[in-house]
Amino acid sequence: MLYPELQSLDDFEFIKNLGSGYTSNVDLYRHIQTDRIVAIKKLSIKNLTQSECRKTYDTEITILTKLQGCSNVVQLIGHGFYTTIDNNNRRTRTINNYFLILEYIDVQPLDKNSERITKQFYYKLLQTLQKIHELGIVHRDLNLNNVLVQNNEPILIDFAFGLVTNGKQKVAEFYGTKPYVAPEIIDGQSYLPYPTEVYSLGVILLELINNNESKEIALQMMQQNPYKRPNLEDVIAHPWFQL
Ligand SMILES: Nc1ncnc2c1ncn2[C@@H]1O[C@H](COP(=O)(O)OP(=O)(O)OP(=O)(O)O)[C@@H](O)[C@H]1O
Ligand SMILES: [Mg+2]
Repeated sequence: MLYPELQSLDDFEFIKNLGSGYTSNVDLYRHIQTDRIVAIKKLSIKNLTQSECRKTYDTEITILTKLQGCSNVVQLIGHGFYTTIDNNNRRTRTINNYFLILEYIDVQPLDKNSERITKQFYYKLLQTLQKIHELGIVHRDLNLNNVLVQNNEPILIDFAFGLVTNGKQKVAEFYGTKPYVAPEIIDGQSYLPYPTEVYSLGVILLELINNNESKEIALQMMQQNPYKRPNLEDVIAHPWFQL
């Protein structure tokens, strides 16, 4: 990791906002000494203690550290804690914040005019998930906001809801984004994590490609009964993907 445990962002110059989500803002910064461009993800929640801030990013740091060097996954290059002083209304208070320094993904839209390119993009996404699952990691918030596109390749981001698992144990927490969440999670049952990822990937396939064959595969992946869904290996081996 290039910048482990930083105490401030003083070495970085703010350039612009890149996006925001549930709990975080992501901004583009330049590392002043090296000119390196990075994306910095910061909590948008205020009023947290130092340890609460760190805890919010614990999962993401643990998982991204395990995924160092994994292609098609955003790379974590540092993290740290800083405080700012807020002088509003003549009251001075200290605001704690935590940040992740991430590889910057220069997002361009996917070329959806070409079914071959879209299919390749989706196939790469399946292979990436297969690799991650082999490492005992589930994402639990697969949706098209968390899959960035760079040179028509998928880059997986946002492991905030991720889980390190042996894959065999059922889990109970509700995570995900509708309509990508598997029905067994919505029903509040405990669930096996891998089939819920297959469900979300089925929704993504429906969104990306719209023909009879892709629809048939997507609907298999989105079956109500998680035990009837194909596993990722089966989907990857489907003749439709053999280019
Ligand atoms: N490395 C990056 N390079 C470029 N843009 C990024 C990068 N990481 C995030 N973004 C942009 O910022 C948005 C929010 O990022 P992210 O999904 O990680 O945060 P979030 O949804 O708030 O996360 P959380 O689920 O932890 O609340 C993304 O949808 C994307 O547009
Ligand atoms: Mg997100």
